[in-house]
Amino acid sequence: MLSPIRFDDGALKLLDQTRLPAEERWLECRTVEEVADAIRRLAVRGAPAIGLAAAYGLALGVRAGDGGAPLERFERAAALLGSTRPTAVNLQWAIARARKVAESRADEGTEVTADALLELAERLVDEQREADRRIGELGAALIEAGDRVLTHCNTGPLATGGAGTAGGVIATAWEEGRLGQVWVGETRPLLQGSRLTAWELGRAGIPFRLVTDASAGTLMARGLVDRVVVGADRIAANGDVANKIGTYPIAVLAARHGVPFYVAAPRSTIDPDTPTGAEIAIEERDPREVTRVGGSAVAPAGAAAVNFAFDVTPAELVTAIVTEAGVLRPPYETSIAEAFRA
Ligand code: MRU
Repeated sequence: MLSPIRFDDGALKLLDQTRLPAEERWLECRTVEEVADAIRRLAVRGAPAIGLAAAYGLALGVRAGDGGAPLERFERAAALLGSTRPTAVNLQWAIARARKVAESRADEGTEVTADALLELAERLVDEQREADRRIGELGAALIEAGDRVLTHCNTGPLATGGAGTAGGVIATAWEEGRLGQVWVGETRPLLQGSRLTAWELGRAGIPFRLVTDASAGTLMARGLVDRVVVGADRIAANGDVANKIGTYPIAVLAARHGVPFYVAAPRSTIDPDTPTGAEIAIEERDPREVTRVGGSAVAPAGAAAVNFAFDVTPAELVTAIVTEAGVLRPPYETSIAEAFRA
């Protein structure tokens, strides 16, 4: 299975997603600063993969950090990594899991703490792979023979280090012979759909058609979409879903056209401490990501732009949330709380 994250020879190796599909180049991160930079630049991206990279980054930060007691090193690394991307809650989730390990081993010294953090990172990778496998299985059962599925952004192996969330549902449905084809929205401004999802689907031999983001309405009006399956960066306790900008309009269109709208995400993407979507911090990125494409200007010099990286889809537009703990249905306050109790 393709994995964009691996750790060997004391370094975190990341398949640089800013270079795909033109070039398959691996980055080597030996310090927490390098990991933070890779996350900020989207060399590694997708909510679960960000969390995994951060877990490795914490191990590097403790081992190679600037001195001080293990917990001081840990908190410095956590503050740096935690500041990279505000919306994907998997980042904070991974830091919280790692903090428990660091606190329980700090008395044994820097090397032992760093080793324990590395072990945790490896465990989180395994857990994510298992969660993806289960999400794929449960989500594929919602797909009917010949379904044409619309997806957005990138939610496959590149985004999780496993089979993917929505991408895993699509891949499993294809393996089970249920899937007709996939509609892939290009996902402006950084084109995760056309650069990454199309690359993954092509490698897997899954039939797809790339469309501009603005095509979703026409596709649905023509009866060409049977289901929407997307991922998530953070799901609030009431089921509101933050995901890549452009997800919310797709959900509105899906409701208008009676198309089921599914969100596939691990439990680590659900934040019981965020009551509703209104409390989710939405990342705003450099406006030049909007005014330039692949290094070329696509707007007049000096054009003002705003670059929201995510939007929030209200829970009422979400047909179901597919997690490794089961397929959650409305009312989400109840089904999410139950999934956390289980
Ligand atoms: O800005 P990105 O590329 O990190 O955004 C990723 C997304 O919005 C994905 O849809 C989401 O993280 C789900 S990943 C399994």
